[in-house]
Amino acid sequence: MLVTNKALMVPARKKGYAIGAFNVQNLESAQAVAEAAAEEKSPAILQITPSVIKYAGLPYISGLVKTAAQLSPVPLAMHLDHGEDFETAAKCVDAGFTSVMIDGSFLKFEENIALTKRVVDVAHPKGVSVEAELGKLAGIEERSVEEKDAILTDPKTAAEFVERTGVDMLAVAIGTSHGAYKFKSETKLDIERLKVISEKTSIPLVLHGASSVPQWLVEKATRFGASLGGAKGIPEEEIKKAIALGIAKINIDTDLRLAFTATVREVLAISPKEFDPRKILGPAKDAMKDVAKSKMRLFGSSGKAP
Ligand code: 13P
Repeated sequence: MLVTNKALMVPARKKGYAIGAFNVQNLESAQAVAEAAAEEKSPAILQITPSVIKYAGLPYISGLVKTAAQLSPVPLAMHLDHGEDFETAAKCVDAGFTSVMIDGSFLKFEENIALTKRVVDVAHPKGVSVEAELGKLAGIEERSVEEKDAILTDPKTAAEFVERTGVDMLAVAIGTSHGAYKFKSETKLDIERLKVISEKTSIPLVLHGASSVPQWLVEKATRFGASLGGAKGIPEEEIKKAIALGIAKINIDTDLRLAFTATVREVLAISPKEFDPRKILGPAKDAMKDVAKSKMRLFGSSGKAP
């Protein structure tokens, strides 16, 4: 069944666990996440970015996720990740997404409020939940306190933003960033800032850029020819601290991509005579499923499906 992010995340924040929001691009990634959720008896969010909509086409990719949800014994949500403008968010509301993100984090505070509120006004009447972002995702190493304050989520304005927009969940910037190269040296998040934001807001909070970039996956990909020097992610201990402070949705894209790539490389290297796409992509799907299952256990969502 297809449900909203809000329906999954409100109980998660209340009970101190988080829902994995996994980026999917194709049949294999959608099946990997749906099967992981079923095996872990975990709710899950399958999220689609505007660039995936360009790559796959909206009817194809939304059709895949809707089918996954129809066949699933556990609740799944279909979410637009990083909706870049009002039109994209509205199109996804019309296409049957149960949740959309409008990313106005690059705008000035008042403009972000106006854009977010516009999306809330078209989404809520159709029962679709809305995520917004305040602050910018960027590394915080070697930055001064003033620089951090300018980039990361300001706890003083978070409550006002939530109240004036009516948004259902808020993505916060506390030092994570997208991709496989999150830190040069110290791998730390601004947990103190999250604590204050969490005290001032009661809606579920979202952590983007939360892949851990497991070194065993980097090593596997490297063994079979990848070049990923310096790849580093968020330690699992930091993720647990964040969940304890109100993070109820955790976005994972990079770790699934790494699992996919490492396994495709392995199959092609070990079986040079193989040219059946199913024999190459099947093991890659299983590798993504294993990663998704381990995230569900780490986030505490395993066994939480009704
Ligand atoms: P990662 O690149 O850390 O997986 O983050 C993905 C993400 O936040 C998508 O919105």
